[in-house]
Amino acid sequence: MKTMTTPVQENVSLKNRTTFQVDAKARFWGEFSSPEDLMFYYRDETWRTVPKLILGGGSNVLFVKDFPGLVLHPAIRGIDLVEEDPESVSVTVGGGENWDDFAAHAVSMGWHGVENLSWIPGFVGTGPVQNIGAYGAEIKDVVEQVEYWSTTDFGRHLLANQDCRFAYRDSIFKQGLKNEAVITRVRFRLSKVPRFNLAYADLKQELAGKGPPTLAAVRDAVIAVRKRKLPDPAEVGNAGSFFKNPEVSEDMLEILRRRHPSMPSYRFAAGGCKIPAGWLVERCGWKGFRQGDAGVHPRHALVLVNYGSATGEEIQDLAGRIEASVLDRFGIELSPEVTIL
Ligand code: EPU
Repeated sequence: MKTMTTPVQENVSLKNRTTFQVDAKARFWGEFSSPEDLMFYYRDETWRTVPKLILGGGSNVLFVKDFPGLVLHPAIRGIDLVEEDPESVSVTVGGGENWDDFAAHAVSMGWHGVENLSWIPGFVGTGPVQNIGAYGAEIKDVVEQVEYWSTTDFGRHLLANQDCRFAYRDSIFKQGLKNEAVITRVRFRLSKVPRFNLAYADLKQELAGKGPPTLAAVRDAVIAVRKRKLPDPAEVGNAGSFFKNPEVSEDMLEILRRRHPSMPSYRFAAGGCKIPAGWLVERCGWKGFRQGDAGVHPRHALVLVNYGSATGEEIQDLAGRIEASVLDRFGIELSPEVTIL
């Protein structure tokens, strides 16, 4: 039998392996640093039938119970320049690389495209799953292709950007390929020609009066805004935005606006609008709410927090109460952005 470089551990606490820091356990915990390792776990007699879960940085999950199977942690590393022309570079990055380490590297190399996504917790391989986004940018704007290993045919596959079905916090990896694809590497196309995306109000404000923007200045500004608005998971358990910003039709927006004239909204070029869920949650009086160790962050109503010993169920229960009150007051259904397991 193949022996793994990192042996499988039993009954592993997930408290420090997810940013929500709730105390759940994985029955088994292993790592993979190559597709061969995955082949082992998915085909080996011992592990073949055991339920599996891929867990990267654990920054977008809430465990409400122990996981009864094998949690697999990506450890595929490397940032490789694979193509370069006068205007751009193509870079392949291992799914087990820390996302912000890659963002920092890109900025230091003078590559444009991921600076607005600085300081997002998590791993490179999980970025495309939910199409991470912030400050007017999404990972889909820079992904060239995604390499994944299939849990159904045990082969390596490449998916071009347009086949990943990227949408707002969504992709084929959450839909048709859910549980069937383990992302091993992501190839990005980044620009060597300055191409700043500074339309987002918070970012514009942070950079105002500081002269012409540089990549490093944009990264610093994004980090400053995030640190000001969002709690640091190293200090208080959280998974960023707990809910997605709900999309509504133009007609629905009109009706809502008549009833709530101060309600903010964003229009898409392609039609439709989004309402900031943070505003809806704040209006329902939840901002700063705390019951036991589960709460709503005092600086951002979209972020649910674990002040120390909240259980996943307590946080889920709070989320349910928030959803019910928003539905009751505004007739809008919120849906979680965080994956509940
Ligand atoms: N707002 C309130 N009260 C609050 C918080 C927000 O009224 O307590 C309203 C304000 O009108 C504010 C607006 O919501 O202007 C938008 O707030 P913010 O700029 O913080 O952005 P967001 O829509 O709450 C989204 C992403 C974040 C991302 C930011 C910046 C989602 C679900 N969240 O948040 O992503 O960092 O934009 O681009 O789309 C994440 O996915 O975990 C995440 C943090």
